[in-house]
Amino acid sequence: MGYSSAAAAAFAVLPVPSPSSSDDSDDANTLPTNPIVEPEVASPHQTPPPKLQQLERGCNLAMTPLGRAGDVDQVVHLFSDLMLSTSSAGVPPSVLCYNTLLNALVEAGRAVEARSVFDGMLAAGVAPNASSFNILVKLYAWRTADFHLAYDQIHAMRRHGLLPDVGTFSTLVTGLCRAGKLDEAWGVLDWMLQEGCRPMVHTYTPIVQGYCRQGQIEEATNLIGFMEEAGCPPNAVTYNVLIRALCDDARFAEVEQVLAEIETKGHELSTVTYNIYMDALGKKGMAKEALKQFEALQCKGLHPTAFTLSIILNCLCCTSRFSQAISILERSTDLNFCAAVVAYNTVMSRLCDMGRWPAVLELLADMIKKCIVPNTRTLNIFIHSLCIADKLSVAKKLVYNQGFPANAVTYNTLIHSFYLRGEAYEADNMFAYMTEVANIAPDEVTYTIMVDGLCRQGKFDKATDFFKESLRNRLRLSKDLLTALLNGLARSDRNTNILVVFQEIERQGFVRCYLIFGDTVRSICQVGFRQHTKMYGLPFLLEGMLGPGKEVYPAHKGQGKGK
Ligand SMILES: *[C@@H]1O[C@H](CO)[C@@H](O)[C@H](O)[C@H]1NC(C)=O
Repeated sequence: MGYSSAAAAAFAVLPVPSPSSSDDSDDANTLPTNPIVEPEVASPHQTPPPKLQQLERGCNLAMTPLGRAGDVDQVVHLFSDLMLSTSSAGVPPSVLCYNTLLNALVEAGRAVEARSVFDGMLAAGVAPNASSFNILVKLYAWRTADFHLAYDQIHAMRRHGLLPDVGTFSTLVTGLCRAGKLDEAWGVLDWMLQEGCRPMVHTYTPIVQGYCRQGQIEEATNLIGFMEEAGCPPNAVTYNVLIRALCDDARFAEVEQVLAEIETKGHELSTVTYNIYMDALGKKGMAKEALKQFEALQCKGLHPTAFTLSIILNCLCCTSRFSQAISILERSTDLNFCAAVVAYNTVMSRLCDMGRWPAVLELLADMIKKCIVPNTRTLNIFIHSLCIADKLSVAKKLVYNQGFPANAVTYNTLIHSFYLRGEAYEADNMFAYMTEVANIAPDEVTYTIMVDGLCRQGKFDKATDFFKESLRNRLRLSKDLLTALLNGLARSDRNTNILVVFQEIERQGFVRCYLIFGDTVRSICQVGFRQHTKMYGLPFLLEGMLGPGKEVYPAHKGQGKGK
């Protein structure tokens, strides 16, 4: 069939890279992403009428990207719509659509639903194919680490007249390696050879990664040598895994060796590889060396990515070579605007940390001149600079004019600065504006700043109320927030408030763990050490916290009623 089925087939067995946590990172996924070529298998089922086929194709085209974007509920919804149409035509949905749904559920870790979709598929008389089973293997090997169930699927394939393929085995090997079961992974390799299935690069690479993760870099290197001999040479992904591990250990001389080896073997070095290396050098404080690699990269005619730029700009800022950084920024307009914003933010944030707010302002002006639209992070850096420069009224005006999308971080910066300056009234106003006018929900940091500020003003009941509100609004019991409040209360001998706090924690169903009590007693004792008279409160408090009918749990039981 056309693009959709090919994409779904590839998608069905491929590891989808997880979104990176850093918005500046373009790191390649360290897992193998080689497409697995699968033979087209003629469907043993009757073909549905053309109109329905078209509907299915459309539905699958819509489900695939939704699943990839993690909008699983939508995928489920579309599928049930499709079910309605197909069942009125008297045929079940195709295996392709089932696989797409199955994969979306598996990627989201919704194991129970995935299983029931698979069972539903069997019940509807739709024959699963190897891709369906590969998805289940992925579920059990990657998501739930129920390896015996993964093996069960592979055995079940035979009962359905199917043979496990290299994708099946590689998926299992990857899962085992992630769980640190390298010996077992080798066993699977033997097994697949017995089955006449040749391992491929993406079967070996997870094992290389497994060794690296366990710090067995020598083993990893040996395996790479073995891959060459076995006629399955390592690819860029394999090398990047090794280079990343060497970088983490700061074994830079060996990195150089590997880079040379890659080139003598006739492989091309990529920007991704350089990024890994330069990032590590930068993080280890070797900015000069990183900059040298940047030159090497450019000499090779490779194009820097947004991530390269952010590494290099950081290195330049660290070595106080701001003018060079700014000159790179000037050239960065060749990149797309999105990359340019990140690059500007990198330099502005460093300048802000150094207290060089006029330079921050200049860069902001430069961005605007170049029609690069600042994002919220840019503006937060700018607001922070203004606060450092003691220009709070300007910062406040900017926020009140609502000229840009402020978020909780923006308000936190301002509220904190007002408190630092002793302008509690302004801070309280800012909080009111944030929650009532701008309609931005306070986060843990906001509550912590407020509670600390209120305690300093002696408004203990209000601070306690804020804490209660945070428990009602947020699912997590924040340790920072609790510590700020308890310190404030203990400092002024507000034992009744402390008891209220603990009652509330209990009332809201949070687990009362040791850690909390330890910290409280510590706060009180710190006060008591200086002022012996206050020690009398301790037994009273302990009675209230730990007395009859009170349960205390070890910390590891978790800290909230939800997640
Ligand atoms: C499973 O069936 C779908 C739909 O026909 C097809 O796209 C896919 O390639 C098949 N997978 C295998 C391994 O045959």
